[in-house]
Amino acid sequence: MITKIESYINDCKHFVAAAINDVEPFRIKYLGKKGIIADLFEEFKNVPRENKKDVGQKLNELKDIVQEKINEFKLKFEDTTSSLEAIDLSLPGDPVKTGTRHPISIVRNEIIDIFKRIGFTVSEGPEIEDDWHVFSALNFPAEHPARDMQDTFFIKPEDKILLRTHTSSVQVRVMENSKPPIRTISPGRVFRNEAISARAHCIFHQVEGLYIDENVSFADLKQTLLFFAKEMFGEKTQIRLRPSYFPFTEPSAEMDVACNICGGKGCNVCKYTGWLEILGCGMVDPNVLENCKIDSKKYTGFAFGMGIERITMLKYGVNDLRLYFENDIRFLNQFKASF
Ligand code: PHE
Repeated sequence: MITKIESYINDCKHFVAAAINDVEPFRIKYLGKKGIIADLFEEFKNVPRENKKDVGQKLNELKDIVQEKINEFKLKFEDTTSSLEAIDLSLPGDPVKTGTRHPISIVRNEIIDIFKRIGFTVSEGPEIEDDWHVFSALNFPAEHPARDMQDTFFIKPEDKILLRTHTSSVQVRVMENSKPPIRTISPGRVFRNEAISARAHCIFHQVEGLYIDENVSFADLKQTLLFFAKEMFGEKTQIRLRPSYFPFTEPSAEMDVACNICGGKGCNVCKYTGWLEILGCGMVDPNVLENCKIDSKKYTGFAFGMGIERITMLKYGVNDLRLYFENDIRFLNQFKASF
């Protein structure tokens, strides 16, 4: 039996694995349940007692050599593969996907850029506001139905703490804290208690503008907005102003731009009128100036406010407001930021 084992030992010593795939069959051949070593141990039971020691030692020697060989080749092949991976600097790197800017951010930045070019600064304020800055200072009388124009989320009704329904509140803060001339826009998130649909959402974004100085007139308002419309929608864009009502402006107007989808001929986006409403505006009501300690005899001003979602819809032909909030990568990837 010893000679048999020695011939196996000899075989093993000469075993060379050409690839990692050769190692497992070798292991099974010797160490498998029905392998050579298992057979030998079976045979070992019948070895006469006086030979058991020598035969046993040889058997263990064989086992050790088999194990050594397995380890040797496993290490060899694993090593080469992993070190190859580590040092192959010519392999292309994993692509890093860069995100795209959200369409609302793109359009907000574009609006800010247009107004910055004609001297407007950017002001920001809190989203959680008090009644004074959102309503009272802006000439909404207490208990007046005009407050229902903007359905409000109250945080603490007893203290009249609420989520701002428009960023006009920021303009009140600017008027309270600085002296004319004031020329500023306030972009930001606003909240209204509305049922969510393709055309309305309870969270949206606005840019509101305010210009206060001596002798500011309605003509200044109109020229400023015409400049904006042309920069935003193209040089040929026409605008029209329709009389409207806001508690904080007098006179008030809503501004339409000629429908850029049908070019004014009439389509289902402009409801066959040829015009699209994009913002509200007007001359700041003297009461608002006085509420903010600005002399309404010396100063006049205009204000305007627009929804960024709406402008984005018109600019890119988006037909459902909810898409802006779903963060579906297939939607977001379609917008390339130039801002
Ligand atoms: N604050 C108004 C709104 O949210 C918009 C507006 C601003 C209208 C300034 C006129 C002047 O609806």
